[in-house]
Amino acid sequence: MSSLPEAPRKLAKASFDTLYDRPHPARYFSALRPLEYKIPAYAQPVIEECVSALAELRGKQKITVLDLCSGYGVNGGLLKYDVSMDELYKLYDDRGVQPNLEKRLSRDREFLKKRKRTDHDITVISQDIALNALKYAESVGFADATIKANLERRPLRGNEACLIEDVDLITVTGGLSYIGSATFERVLGAIKQSPWVLFFPLQHTAVQEIRDTIASFGLDVEDAPRPVPQRRFKDERERRAILAESGQDSTLPRDWAFGAYLEAKLCLARPAADIGALPLRHILSEAFDAGSRSAESAA
Ligand SMILES: C[S@@+](CC[C@H](N)C(=O)[O-])C[C@H]1O[C@@H](n2cnc3c(N)ncnc32)[C@H](O)[C@@H]1O
Repeated sequence: MSSLPEAPRKLAKASFDTLYDRPHPARYFSALRPLEYKIPAYAQPVIEECVSALAELRGKQKITVLDLCSGYGVNGGLLKYDVSMDELYKLYDDRGVQPNLEKRLSRDREFLKKRKRTDHDITVISQDIALNALKYAESVGFADATIKANLERRPLRGNEACLIEDVDLITVTGGLSYIGSATFERVLGAIKQSPWVLFFPLQHTAVQEIRDTIASFGLDVEDAPRPVPQRRFKDERERRAILAESGQDSTLPRDWAFGAYLEAKLCLARPAADIGALPLRHILSEAFDAGSRSAESAA
């Protein structure tokens, strides 16, 4: 066992832990829909741009993505299927009479089968501690392979390390309140060619240790100039607690920046040569021309 320190849990943020490991994502999406959880919709076009750029820079047909804290696999789903987050919210709507799990799964597969994308070749490996969520991701084709592991607490096993050795891109949405530098150290140590790392920490989450760990693998971390909204504050209590935790004045007007929303920062880590070949601003302008449309319809 390695003695890497485990990431501390954040206390001010509302907890949705009981929704993370269900056999079906309906409860998770139904809880997050009114809060307009939209970070995967913002991430998706940036992930697409990264995938295209990596394919070109590396001369590869197939790009492998490792999605950390993947949950039910929404990032993989948005990549591998021609589907928006808005459509996933509708598909997973938990109101009304609910069919049983098997019926739900076959309804999901039926909906998705006409949406499978064939215009790119991407392998998605989903990692999480939630076994049921990972099973769902694999059963509907959001993930090609899964790793159920708490990499804050233990190293990768041999077969898990082999699975991720050819990863080109690591993604994390909604996960940086749960994982820290231990997970990144373990994962980056197992990958052969320096991957790109696209991650979205909440503005108030301290991620310097993660940035230092990523930098220690020869990757330079760049930040997008503007934050993106992650989701609405659950309630006034959460807003005040988070503003207090981050040392901000809880009396700030609600329309300040994304006043009603928790904000995330877009961070992309890459080898310096790749940054020289393709500036972040180019990736973002390509992504957000298309992406702002899908993000706007995400709730
Ligand atoms: C807010 S959800 C985000 C899920 C997904 N990325 C999304 O954007 O919908 C946080 C996820 O982190 C997972 N998680 C919590 N602790 C973790 C850990 N130590 N390692 C990996 N995943 C963890 C939870 O099970 C949950 O699926």
